[in-house]
Parts: sequence; C-alpha cells; structure tokens
Amino acid sequence: MTSWNGAIVGCGFFAHNHLHGWGELKERCAIRAVCDIDGGKAQAAADAFGIPNVYTNIEELLARETLDFVDIVTTAPSHRALVEACARRGVATVVQKPLAPDWADASALVATMDRAGRPLMVHENFRFQAPLSRAADVLRSGVIGEAVWGQFSFRTGYDIYAGQPYLAEVERFVLLDLAIHVLDIARVFMGEAETVACRSQSVRPGIKGEDMATVMLGHRGGATSIVDVTYASRQTPDPFPQTLLHVDGRQGSIRLDREFHLTVTTPEGTTREVVAPHASAWMSPQWVLIQDSVVATQRHWLDCLDGGAEPATSGRDNLKTFALVEASYRSAAAGGSLVTPEVF
Ligand SMILES: NC(=O)c1ccc[n+]([C@@H]2O[C@H](COP(=O)([O-])OP(=O)(O)OC[C@H]3O[C@@H](n4cnc5c(N)ncnc54)[C@H](O)[C@@H]3O)[C@@H](O)[C@H]2O)c1
Repeated sequence: MTSWNGAIVGCGFFAHNHLHGWGELKERCAIRAVCDIDGGKAQAAADAFGIPNVYTNIEELLARETLDFVDIVTTAPSHRALVEACARRGVATVVQKPLAPDWADASALVATMDRAGRPLMVHENFRFQAPLSRAADVLRSGVIGEAVWGQFSFRTGYDIYAGQPYLAEVERFVLLDLAIHVLDIARVFMGEAETVACRSQSVRPGIKGEDMATVMLGHRGGATSIVDVTYASRQTPDPFPQTLLHVDGRQGSIRLDREFHLTVTTPEGTTREVVAPHASAWMSPQWVLIQDSVVATQRHWLDCLDGGAEPATSGRDNLKTFALVEASYRSAAAGGSLVTPEVF
C-alpha cells in the first residue's frame, strides 16, 4: 500500500478534526506540512500534531514540498484561488464544503482541476456518517423497493456561532452552510432532482443571512422529497448534529430517528437497529458523529488514490449538489416558485 504525502491548508476551527483524522490513517498517509495565512494558527497546529513544516502562503508550500495531495480546510471565499493553485502544480486536492460562495466560482474551480486532469474531492462528509451510510445501503439492497418519497431533516438550536462566528455575517447562510449537506443526502437516496421549490426565513436576531429553509425537490422518475434545515429550532433534547430521515418505498420504508435508531419496514416485517458512529479517544461526545465521518471521508479519499477511482463526492459530483443550493436561492428569491437547477 502506498503511503501518501499530504499538507493541510487552513488551521482554524474545523481543521483539528482533519488533523486527527489523518492521524488515524497514519499507516496510509503522512501530513508533511500545514499552511495558514495566520502564522500563529499554522504553528500551533504543527506543534500540536508534530508536523515538520509550516507555511503562511500556499504558493510557497507547493513550491517547496513534494506532495501527493493538499487538503483545504479554509472557508469558501478562498477555495477557488487555493484549488487553482493546486491545479497549476498538478496536485490532487480535497476541499471542504461549500465548494465556493457561488456557482461561478464553484463551476470554474471544478473546470480548472478537470483541465489539469488531477483528482478533486469535496470533503462532503454527511454521506459517510455511519447511520446515513447504513440507511443508504438498506435502500440500495432493494428491500423497500423504489423510493417514492423522502424527508431529510436537520433542525437544531445548537450554538454554532460560538465556534464559527463568521456564520452570523454571511448573506448566504443556512442553504450554503447546512442544506448543502442535506441536499447531498437527498441526492444519495432519491437520485437527481429536476425541480426545486424553496422558502427561507431569517429567525435569529442579528444575523445577516437565512437560518431556516424548506426545500421541495421533484426527482427524475416522479419521486418527491423535502429537505428542511435550521439552526433556529429551540428544542430539548437537541438532536445536533443528527440528520433524521424518512423514506417511503413502493414496498416499505426506512426511518432514521434520534440517537441513530434505524427502523426498516418491508413486506417481511419490521427490523430495528442502532447504528452508532465509531468513537475514538480524541473525539468529543457532541461531535463524534461528525468526527467519525471525517475519518471515513478521508479513508475514501485514500482508497480512491490507491485505486485510481473517482471519489464519490468529486468536484463534478458535488456541482450537482451545489446546483440545488443555487436553485434554492433562486426559488426563495421568487417567493418559493418552481425552478430548474443548473445541472441535473
Ligand atoms: N463538513 C463539516 O461537517 C464542517 C463543519 C464545520 C466547518 N466546515 C467547513 O470547514 C471550512 C473551514 O471552516 P472553519 O470553521 O474551520 O473556518 P475558520 O475560519 O475557523 O478557519 C479557516 C482558516 O483558514 C485560514 N485561511 C483563510 N484563507 C486562507 C488562505 N488563502 N490560505 C491559508 N489559510 C487561509 C484562516 O486564517 C483560518 O485559520 C468551511 O468551509 C466550513 O464550511 C465543515
């Protein structure tokens, strides 16, 4: 098995999960360098994780290091320039979601990496969450028949602003930050959507963007699904960061309820199981579902590098999810009218 050499760009709030995750996969890869425009954050990450080389500029990083991949964990406005720098050097790249702040940047950066002929994967980790991945396997097994209706729901009042204060300042907020994950899940279960209708609301005082959105998708072949997300649902206990789902098939149904309870009803009867994420020592009880999925996403990337396969969440694939976000914004701006996504 090859051992791949990587570097992390962006050493802020979420990067420690990536650093721990790559550490869990140390038999298969090594992080040789970290880079952040804030030199203090880069140095702190290097010290905490024993990483030899520290940079404050990606061009310098790419010029000096011999890398098999770069893992970009900065926020969206910087993604295009950073991915394009990697493309110019022919370095395979993983980039956090959302791909970019808007469709123009997202499609341009995917096209640039396509022209460079190197792999690009979006770190879209929800598909790799243990309970969602198990539920998708059940659907693919065919036991509930063809999916005809779905609901994919992420509602919380968890204080995400404490760790990510920039979210209060962005004009495109919950659709681009959170619905993008759940729309990706809707695609996994229901297939591509050809129509989108969305209403969005801004509930919490003092934020710039929308923090509540309800999207209705019309899928190819006639199925319908609802994606509803919010950071403004006050409830006890709060299910953060769980995505709950209900899928009706022609012969049965799949439900994922709180605390990872998966219920599958088929013509043969009903089965119930609890699909908990795998917890490692570095993970925190509140974040284990996400942290375990970070490792699973990274493992998928290394599998793809080993086998030369296109990642499930490649740049090209993720543009289809991004198109649903863009279509949702267009629909919401028009009061919820039906629109067609850019690609489907
Ligand atoms: N997949 C998930 O579950 C999940 C969860 C949280 C955050 N995220 C995503 O992770 C990304 C990072 O979020 P965060 O909360 O860690 O942000 P953050 O602002 O805390 O950290 C980003 C870091 O990138 C650095 N940076 C910015 N531009 C740079 C550049 N050009 N070169 C080098 N460094 C640069 C900043 O100095 C900062 O330290 C976002 O895209 C966010 O949406 C994903």
